[in-house]
Parts: sequence; C-alpha cells; structure tokens
Amino acid sequence: MKTSISNKEVVLGVTGSIAAYKACDLASRLVELGVNVLPVLTRAAQEFVGAVSFEAITGRRAITGMFEPLQNTDVEHIAVAQRAHLFLVAPATANIIARAAHGVADDWLSTTLLATRAPILFAPAMNTAMYTHPATQANIELLRARGCHFVGPGVGRLACRTVGPGRMSEPAEILDAALPLLSGRTDLAGKRVLITSGATHEPIDPVRFLGNRSSGKMGRALALEALGRGAHVTVVYGPSSVDYPLNAELVEVETARQMADAVVECSRNADVIIGAAAVADYRPEQASQDKRKKTGSPLTLALTENPDILATVSRERRPGQVIVGFAAETRDVMENAKSKIAAKNLDLIVANLVGGDDAGFGMDALRAAIVDKRGNSADIGHIDKDALAERIMDQVVGLLRGSL
Ligand code: CTP
Repeated sequence: MKTSISNKEVVLGVTGSIAAYKACDLASRLVELGVNVLPVLTRAAQEFVGAVSFEAITGRRAITGMFEPLQNTDVEHIAVAQRAHLFLVAPATANIIARAAHGVADDWLSTTLLATRAPILFAPAMNTAMYTHPATQANIELLRARGCHFVGPGVGRLACRTVGPGRMSEPAEILDAALPLLSGRTDLAGKRVLITSGATHEPIDPVRFLGNRSSGKMGRALALEALGRGAHVTVVYGPSSVDYPLNAELVEVETARQMADAVVECSRNADVIIGAAAVADYRPEQASQDKRKKTGSPLTLALTENPDILATVSRERRPGQVIVGFAAETRDVMENAKSKIAAKNLDLIVANLVGGDDAGFGMDALRAAIVDKRGNSADIGHIDKDALAERIMDQVVGLLRGSL
C-alpha cells in the first residue's frame, strides 16, 4: 500500500501554447510525488516543446498522434481513458477547451477526453482577449457545469506583450488543485499541516557534529499524504537523505535550536503539527571555533539539553490545533509512548520500535503502534512508512473533526 497519490495515473495533455515549457516542470513534480504520468502532446504543442523532454522526465513514451504505429494495438486511447485517475490539460488552449466543450474528437487528446470518466482539470493559457471572449467563457461554463475543473488562469504579462488574465497558473498552484482530484480525498483541504522531519546536527567543531540515523522518509511520506488530501504543507527539515516534495513549503535547518525557532514561527497558523524529526536531545555545550586536535588522552564532551520542540508548541497550542508526536523506542514501547503523550501534551503519538533489522531509521518500513491521549492504542505491527502516513492522516482528520 502507498500514499493516496503514489502510483496513480495522470494523463498530462499538453496543448499548443507558449506555456507548454512549464508542463515539463509540472510533469517532473508529479513524477517526484510517485505519480505515473502519461504525456500527450498535441500537434501544436510539439511546435513549442519536444516529446523527448517529456519522455525523459516521465520515463514513458509520449503520445504524439492518433495513428502512429503501435498506438492502436490495444485501442490505447480507450484503455488509457478507462485506466487514468486524472486528466490534466496544462496548458489548455482556447481550442482544446472549445473542442472538449463540444465533444469534438479529432485527435488523441480530444478523443480520450471524450472517452474518459476520470476527473478533468484544465489549466487555461491564452491571450486575454481570447480568454475573455464570450465563446471561451461559455465553453468554460459548459465544462464546469459538466463537472470539469479549472485552475487559473492568472493575471500577468503574456507572451503577446499584453497584461491581463490568460497566464497559465504556476506548476505548484496547478498541483494544489490536481492532487486532491487525484487522491479522491479532500479531507485536509484548507488545512495547514506543519511537519518536522529528518535529523538534527549539533556542531562539535567546524568539521564534526553529533547526529543520528534519521533519513526523513517518514516526514516525506507524511508530507505527500497531506498534500494528496489538499493540505497546505510546511516541512521543517534537518539533514535528510530524501528529497521533500517541492509543492510543500520547505524550511531547511541544521540544529535542534534552529528547528525549534522555525517550528515556533510556522506553528502559529498551523492546524496540525506532526513531529517526525529525530531531534537531538543534547548539544555540545560549546561548539569549538577551531577544529579540535587530538590530545592523546580521553575526551569528555559537556552536553547541554536542547529545547523540546513539541512540548514548546503544545504549551502555546491554539484551540483545535492537533499535535502528533513520534516515540522512537528500543524497549517498553507502549509505556514510554504513554508517558510521552502526557509529558508533551499531545493528541496522538506514533510509537515505533527502533533498532531491529527490518524496520526503523533509514528503512522503508517500521514497527508501529498509534496511541491517543485517552490511552486507546492500535498495534499496527510492521508497516510501510507510506501506508503508516495514510493511517496517521486518517486519525488526524478524525481529530480535526472532533470525532476521536
Ligand atoms: N521531539 C521534539 N524536540 C526534542 C526531542 C523530541 O520535538 N528536543 C519530538 C520528536 O520529534 C518526536 C517526539 O518528540 O515526535 C519524541 O521524540 P523521542 O526522541 O522519541 O523522545 P524524547 O522526547 O527525546 O525522549 P527520550 O529521548 O528520552 O526517549
């Protein structure tokens, strides 16, 4: 099992607009989220961008015409129309909007748009006069009435050297509209989710630090899951071995104190705060300005306690704010989790057993149990981090609704 968006299939229809180059960025952001992207370029789109770029980004053969060899062995447009979870037409010209509105099926994209029952999202891009023309506006209204979705266009300087509505929305904004349609879930729409992730590094001297084995995989999975449900996501992350989704607001830090400052700042307007970072409890009392030299005798480092980030934000918690922590334990998992939920005043804690060979730090899975503040616990056992992210977010949604 994966997050609610990974491995889903998006047909990315690219039509003939100068904004077609932005569709490369869009494709790469979708791929990065674990989505399968099938690029479809109309004949006009190919005047602006090449199929090769999309093939390199998506790892899929781009569809460039209806009657090309091999494209009809399995009546592909029908198979794709049935299989796809979302059709995203970006950029969408006045022409494709008009053809879709009137059921014209004269190329691969327009034919497949007619054959699919998947959600369709258009990101219009055109000259202001074309966009505001009653014909285009009527076509958009017709498509909206039939359940199609639109994102943008924005107002800005257009390729035709005029300023007005018609500029295609930025890829991040298009993704915000696309992901809930893709996951079929909008239960975090309008909510702000703040996630801490990764390790922290506490400097000993300019060369060395105290750190830990956290990879950031759990935080990344949580960010993807929340984005897929329509949330605005901020990830405050320390050193990690994963890339975080570009569609989230990303704040990079190194030390626990930097993480604490960033989290306190971002927590003010957060609806949900999830502490998935492995924060160093201690830092060297005095980081040396110069590289420490070996002396030939044993060395003792004096350590000072770091602030507890979750405990800090939960002391200033806003009404309705949901705060979730993790408890990484090597033994007495449940007892430790229950004492941490109380000590840090959390709504939920995800207890995980670390130190084994098949789960935990750096791996794709962990052994987990979820405990709530009333003491209810669900022992989940060995679970993929993506699947655990989905379970956690289900509970978070329940807490936000006040039903748990
Ligand atoms: N945490 C935090 N700030 C810290 C330490 C931990 O916000 N300075 C958060 C972690 O992100 C996690 C939870 O608190 O969500 C529990 O972290 P964990 O390391 O398991 O527990 P500690 O509170 O550090 O307690 P101990 O190390 O004694 O088990």
